[in-house]
Parts: sequence; structure tokens; C-alpha cells
Amino acid sequence: MKAIVVTDQAAGTAGMTLVERPKPSPAGNDVLVQVHASGFTPDELTWPSSWTDRLGRDRTPSVPGHELAGVVATLGYGTTGLSVGQRVFGLTDWTRDGTLAEYTAVEARNLAPLPGDVDFTVGASLPISGLTAWQGLFQHGRLQAGQSVLVHGAAGGVGSVVTQLAREAGAHVIGTGRAAHRQTALDLGAQDFVDLEKDALEDVGGVDLVFDVFGGDVGRQSAGLVRAGGTLVTIAGPPEARPADGLAIDFVVESDRAQLGEIVRRVRDGRLRTNIGTVSTLDDAVAAFNPTERVSGKTIIRVRP
Ligand SMILES: NC(=O)c1ccc[n+]([C@@H]2O[C@H](COP(=O)([O-])OP(=O)(O)OC[C@H]3O[C@@H](n4cnc5c(N)ncnc54)[C@H](OP(=O)(O)O)[C@@H]3O)[C@@H](O)[C@H]2O)c1
Repeated sequence: MKAIVVTDQAAGTAGMTLVERPKPSPAGNDVLVQVHASGFTPDELTWPSSWTDRLGRDRTPSVPGHELAGVVATLGYGTTGLSVGQRVFGLTDWTRDGTLAEYTAVEARNLAPLPGDVDFTVGASLPISGLTAWQGLFQHGRLQAGQSVLVHGAAGGVGSVVTQLAREAGAHVIGTGRAAHRQTALDLGAQDFVDLEKDALEDVGGVDLVFDVFGGDVGRQSAGLVRAGGTLVTIAGPPEARPADGLAIDFVVESDRAQLGEIVRRVRDGRLRTNIGTVSTLDDAVAAFNPTERVSGKTIIRVRP
């Protein structure tokens, strides 16, 4: 099968190569998925899990990409809950070969059914941004209707979903980003917007929940905005400051079938918009991940036309 592999961490996305690889075999409780569309996050190449397995052993050449939409091709021994021929989407294990390939082996529990009216390209764009937003707001942030949420990077991959879900849940949403992102954030449902390059973050006053995607100075300042009993949720690594009388939680997104179902239901009925930038083929994927100009939105690789 065709697959993109990486062998050299220092080379980043420029080190990606399209090669022929043997088709993987599904282990117990796995399914082998024929990948139709794949999502890749450039930051993956800085994570140890892209280079070593759980015991720290070199696993290069490794296949990047951990979001997929495709069709179940084979079931591993003892796999239940999914069937051959079923359309699926989900988030694959960080420490195993990923989805920039014609086939990938993935634990069945990491996948959810993809409804027939949702395109594979859309399905592959949802797992990381959708699950991260859902888990940060509802599992870790315990968001309630009527609360206020400060959403950093509100026009970005994760922030755009956070903004939409928080608004739908009845929160007052304050988005942040660059000046150019203001209208996008407001269109997605933010009621207020802070231009991080010009406005003072402290003017926001107190909020019940901060969803931080940046860390650093922004994360530190945001901790001071959390009201008593509130929460700073961050996906940018361990927080450098904590709310005086609240919680600080950092987490790494996990796959969850029920949550994937909630997310795709919202896409189908129009409550949730996804943010796809470029769509490319597997043959052109290396070029797509090394663009000459900055492109906004997620790059999705359409592995099967
Ligand atoms: N822990 C986890 O489980 C987890 C899960 C998902 C993502 N992440 C991490 O979370 C981060 C965000 O991911 P993402 O996919 O949402 O990224 P993204 O799509 O690039 O979104 C970030 C947004 O913030 C804006 N931004 C960046 N720097 C800014 C600045 N200095 N001032 C104002 N706005 C700024 C970006 O604008 P421009 O596009 O104009 O730069 C973009 O709109 C990444 O580091 C990612 O690796 C972690």
C-alpha cells in the first residue's frame, strides 16, 4: 500500500516521504480500515509518540496522521461492535502507525460510525478539534448554561469548535485571536472578541471557564481571570499559573465513540461547522503539508478519490 512515512525528527514536514509499505495486520480488538480521508496535525512531529512506542523504542519509519474516515476492511480477532464494510471515523493511537496511508490498523473502540450523508473529507476533519473541544468544555470544564467562557484562538481548528459548542450550550462566549479573526469568531457564535495583539486581556473581567490553546503569557494572564470556583482548561501543556480559587486542568484528547457521535450529529443538522482549508491527494500530500504560503483551515488528505 501507499503511505507517508517520517524518519528524521529534525526535518519536520519536509522529511515526509511517500513510500510503499506492507498493509498492516489488525491485532486483537483492532479493525483494519481502508482510509478514505486522513487528517494530520503538523505539531505531531514534535511529539515523542510520533517517533517511539510506549516503551520508548524507536518506531521509525512511522506513519503520521491520527484522524481518519474510511471503511472497515477486516476485523481483528475478538473485535466486536463494528462490521466489515461499515463507514467509520475517529482518532487513532498516537504511538502506532497512523492514517496517512491506504490502510491503518486501529482499536475498534477508537472509531464511531460515520453516517452515510457525511462526506469522508468532513469526517476526517472532526476527531481532534471536535473531541478536544467537547472534552475541554464538558468533561474537564463542566460547563453549564449561563456561564461565561473565554475561548483563545477562537477562529482556529480547536477554538472554532469550542466557540460553537459553548454557545450552543448556553454560555456567554468571548473569543480571542488576531484582529483578522474577529468576524469569524463572531460568526461562529462569540458574543465578544479580544484582539490579543491590541486589547488588554484583563479588561475581560472574570469568567467561569478559560479554554486555553496557547499557554505562555496568555495562559498565565488568563489564570487571573478565572472566577472563584471556575476552571482554566488548557491543551497547551502543564499550566504555568493557576486560578487563585479555581482549578487548572491540562489534558490530551482521547477518542470516545459517544462523543464522536454527538459531534457528527451536530455537523449533520447544521449546528456545527468544520474548518477545512486544503484538500489534497496522498500523492500530493507532502507538498500540501509544505505549502509555500500560509493556508488557514485544516489540510485533509483524500486517500481514496
Ligand atoms: N492537548 C491536546 O489534546 C491538543 C489537541 C488539539 C490541539 N492541541 C494543540 O493546541 C494548539 C491549537 O491547535 P489548533 O488546531 O486550534 O491550532 P490553529 O488552528 O492554528 O488555531 C490557533 C488559532 O490561534 C491564532 N493565533 C496563533 N497565535 C496567535 C497570537 N499570537 N495571537 C493571536 N492569535 C493567535 C491562530 O491564528 P493564525 O492562524 O493567524 O496563526 C489560529 O486562529 C496547537 O498547539 C495544538 O497542537 C492540543
